[in-house]
Amino acid sequence: MIKYRPTLIFKVEKIISDILSDGDITNIRSDLHRSKLWADSFWRRKNYHSRRIDPEIELLRSMKFDTILEIGAAYGRIANKITEKMNINYTGIEICDYFKPYYNEYNKEGKFEIIFTDFFDKMIDKTFDIVLLPMNTFPTFTYSSISMLLDKVKKYLNDDGKFIFSTYKLHEDINSDNINRYKRRIAGELLIDIKDRIALESHQYSLEITEYGASSKSIQMYHRLDNKYNILEKELFWTYIEYITHDSLLELLINSDLKVEVNETSHSMVYIATQ
Ligand SMILES: C[S@@+](CC[C@H](N)C(=O)[O-])C[C@H]1O[C@@H](n2cnc3c(N)ncnc32)[C@H](O)[C@@H]1O
Repeated sequence: MIKYRPTLIFKVEKIISDILSDGDITNIRSDLHRSKLWADSFWRRKNYHSRRIDPEIELLRSMKFDTILEIGAAYGRIANKITEKMNINYTGIEICDYFKPYYNEYNKEGKFEIIFTDFFDKMIDKTFDIVLLPMNTFPTFTYSSISMLLDKVKKYLNDDGKFIFSTYKLHEDINSDNINRYKRRIAGELLIDIKDRIALESHQYSLEITEYGASSKSIQMYHRLDNKYNILEKELFWTYIEYITHDSLLELLINSDLKVEVNETSHSMVYIATQ
């Protein structure tokens, strides 16, 4: 067995040249959100996440509605926070079905339901008062997929329904003078559980200014280890983060015939869109 040494010393160029010398770049997957490593890692961050302040939760608690659909619900952290204070019908959609056991454990009282499917795939046969896309899920969607996302959201909204989504606030438009603010060359985490450990290292591979903001591409390297740091599993994933400016987002919403109201906080922008 190979022993794992924390490898923040690895360079992206080295990882890629190792893979290329094996002749197979397809070893780097692009479907992190369909993997068991993703569900296991995200679940292990739940104590840390429970301290998050989610701007959309306060807003929803101040509103009156009966039905809500959350896009990208994972094991149900936001669903749980909302249904513990409100008597509503809560449905989540989550692409990664490895979250199922965690969802069952987290939702013992059955206050909400999560359906495991890709939001872009099939349609659930229902419409909702609110469709929610929380702040930490928004960057998962690429700029080029947002018009498609808005079209699908509209199909899920009741006539007077609201699409609520929030984004991290960009400090200013991104340009060559301030692009360095978005550089996150390397980062690492060790996620410990009784059974095993997951060591995650993220290396930013590229960061580019685009006509809508900026686009960042990283390699995430996951090692699953036993308690003596022997490697049990290793996977590499390309991951993308898109930084979309406020003006570019407004343009997308207007092009999709949506009216929009915006609430700004110190670190977030909450958008409330109606048809
Ligand atoms: C960053 S997590 C946030 C989860 C949850 N909002 C929370 O705060 O705990 C975003 C989730 O969206 C899911 N997701 C990404 N694309 C999706 C899609 N097309 N359909 C359904 N879920 C998706 C991912 O698998 C991931 O679990």
